[in-house]
Amino acid sequence: MVYGILCAMDEEFGILENEIAEKEVTEIYSRRFISGKINGQRVVAAVSRIGKVAAAFTTAVLIEKFKVDALVFCGIAGGLGDNVKIGDIVIGTGCVQHDFYLSDSDFFRIPLLNISNIPCDKALSEKCLNAAAEFCKGEKTKEITEFFASVNVKEPKVHTGIIASGDQFISSDQKRLWLKENIENVMCCEMEGAAVAQAAFEAGVPCAIIRVISDSADGDAEVSFDKFVSAASLYSSAIIKNLFK
Ligand code: ADE
Repeated sequence: MVYGILCAMDEEFGILENEIAEKEVTEIYSRRFISGKINGQRVVAAVSRIGKVAAAFTTAVLIEKFKVDALVFCGIAGGLGDNVKIGDIVIGTGCVQHDFYLSDSDFFRIPLLNISNIPCDKALSEKCLNAAAEFCKGEKTKEITEFFASVNVKEPKVHTGIIASGDQFISSDQKRLWLKENIENVMCCEMEGAAVAQAAFEAGVPCAIIRVISDSADGDAEVSFDKFVSAASLYSSAIIKNLFK
């Protein structure tokens, strides 16, 4: 069993790399694929780069070349759900490409697949939910405690629901409301989840998407994102370590 682990940005991957033992690095198309073990579990980890094309492409390499048996993506997102706050964690039940638009009466639907909500794997998502809940409840390192204080995160919670993905950084009330109105049970927005989920779905590989809320996808999103992003890997490394305990 080999898990593919993905983040979109170096900042999200960060100290997670230190958790990989017996590391072997293969460079393909400007991406570093790091094979090794986390808590004894075989993994291949990579930074996909930003956006749906980059994410789908990297996922395809993990599936086709590294033969991963399951995929877990971990990164940050803009919060959209009513009770979703900065510092909370979202586990996707499914992902929607919010910028897929065929006509005014037919948007989000992916032709031929004929679905708009790309499902995530239930069992794997449940494992991620437990790993994230343990992070929220468990003892925090000094770095995490200091980071929480710096971004005013008190008691982070875990949510499940739909993740909206598109090649856009969402930073306006208008777009934020549009997403909430048009995507039932949407919890957050980001730029890769649906691409990873679709590639995995088409290949028949179980996939889970974990997102930590860095901003509220509103007029303050850029400032909040900038404050949060440099410490994003504190979350990803802790959650992924918990996943393989
Ligand atoms: N990733 C983190 N915050 C985001 C936002 N507001 N829009 C898109 N992707 C994001």
